[in-house]
Amino acid sequence: MRYLITAGPTREPIDPVRYLGNRSSGKMGYALAEAALAAGHQVILITGPTSLAPPDRAEVTHVETAREMYEAVSTRIGEIEVAIFCAAVSDYRVAETSLKKMKKTGDPLTLPLVENPDILGSARDHMGFQGFLVGFAAETDRVIENARQKLQRKQCDMLVANDVSQPGIGFEADQNEIAILTASGGNEILSKTSKTELARQLIERIDRQVADAASSRN
Ligand code: PMT
Repeated sequence: MRYLITAGPTREPIDPVRYLGNRSSGKMGYALAEAALAAGHQVILITGPTSLAPPDRAEVTHVETAREMYEAVSTRIGEIEVAIFCAAVSDYRVAETSLKKMKKTGDPLTLPLVENPDILGSARDHMGFQGFLVGFAAETDRVIENARQKLQRKQCDMLVANDVSQPGIGFEADQNEIAILTASGGNEILSKTSKTELARQLIERIDRQVADAASSRN
């Protein structure tokens, strides 16, 4: 099958030297790309800025901002069967980017922010994606409850939740612990282990669900 995977953070420029960003390292998304390739799939990896080397056999598009990621996803999503949105996309951007480096004035500074497009939330209605849709949820409280709402609101087939308030998992860490929620009401915890191993287990479950859905249609 053909997979599209988003990974890493987005950067929203404030001026030529500063940006709004987040702590995503890309490790989880890149591990998913490696695992999908290892399972015999083709992979389009759309990635924000990271210090990682992308897998050799993936087709890679580098982006910086949420709007660039939106454009890259909407250009390619018609070609694929499975989409996994692992990127930590900034919900907001600065309303007006300064073309020159901003100077200190001695006064408090307020930067108006505007909402970025919701890429995952646009996949079904605006981009017309009909394949298997997997979202991630980075939560700090009421993890399962919030994730279940996200799954429904963003019309996902599967939602992978991680508690990013826990030390040693989530952002930047080499390990993670995830809860996999499915649209049919399933809820499975994959306990703490390396992102490499979790990615392998997650791709295995996605492949099984896609195969089950195909056989129940026939
Ligand atoms: O990169 P690492 O350091 O390895 O860390 C991994 C991770 C913590 C980033 C990853 O496991 C993870 O949780 N990714 C999702 C982070 C996130 O932005 O979660 P969210 O709950 O804010 O967003 C929910 C979903 O909507 C995500 O699939 C996100 O990609 C998507 N989204 C969010 C905002 C937006 N404007 N567009 C989106 O598509």
